[in-house]
Amino acid sequence: MTVKIAPSILSADFSRLGEQVQEAIAAGAEYIHVDIMDGHFVPNLTIGPPIVRALKPLTQAAGVLLDTHLMIEQPERLIPDFAEAGADQITVHVETCPHLHRTIQQIKSLSVRAGVTLNPATPLETLSEILPFVDLVLIMSVNPGFGGQAYIPTMTDKIRRLRDYLNERQLARVEIEVDGGIDVENAAEVVNAGATILVSGSHIFNKYQSVLANIVALRAAASREA
Ligand code: DX5
Ligand code: ZN
Repeated sequence: MTVKIAPSILSADFSRLGEQVQEAIAAGAEYIHVDIMDGHFVPNLTIGPPIVRALKPLTQAAGVLLDTHLMIEQPERLIPDFAEAGADQITVHVETCPHLHRTIQQIKSLSVRAGVTLNPATPLETLSEILPFVDLVLIMSVNPGFGGQAYIPTMTDKIRRLRDYLNERQLARVEIEVDGGIDVENAAEVVNAGATILVSGSHIFNKYQSVLANIVALRAAASREA
């Protein structure tokens, strides 16, 4: 399976966001990853539905999926707004959802792909009852809240255990997205462990190389044998 790349706009230059997203789309990104933070669940505050709405014409014209990662408390209050703004995929943290099945059903009822996310210290076991109902699992490989952090190496084994578990339960269709600290050094390891979508922010939007060069390099690195 070829891996899909989801540039996280958290590290983009917000003064020219549309241009940066166009660069990522032109470089072949399959998703645009939008990090929604509320200053409560995570110690940072980012953006809301208006930005998703503004980006929608760009992604839609290119057939790219808008991937919204909700790092917010009580996400069920805002899920309809993100769906209405044009999110193609919504992921919620298990840590924020006491009624996770209900929340996943809510996302699916709005015809949006539904995903569930785990913080690094949250065990895979919390997913056992919800996996048949989701389209993807997002494994956080840093503690959520900020871009530019280092990949937590023990997350590779967590990804591998999840992939084995999905295969054993005839749920191989469930995508594994990995988010945090992904770069050319660890991309192959993460893909070989079973990831199908790589999120990357600071290693795509930075001052060292163009967005195009960074995406080409990441894709090449991800296809190497670890
Ligand atoms: C962190 C966010 C990530 C972040 C990744 O809370 O969920 O999507 O933007 O940034 P990098 O790739 O720099 O770790
Ligand atoms: Zn994210």
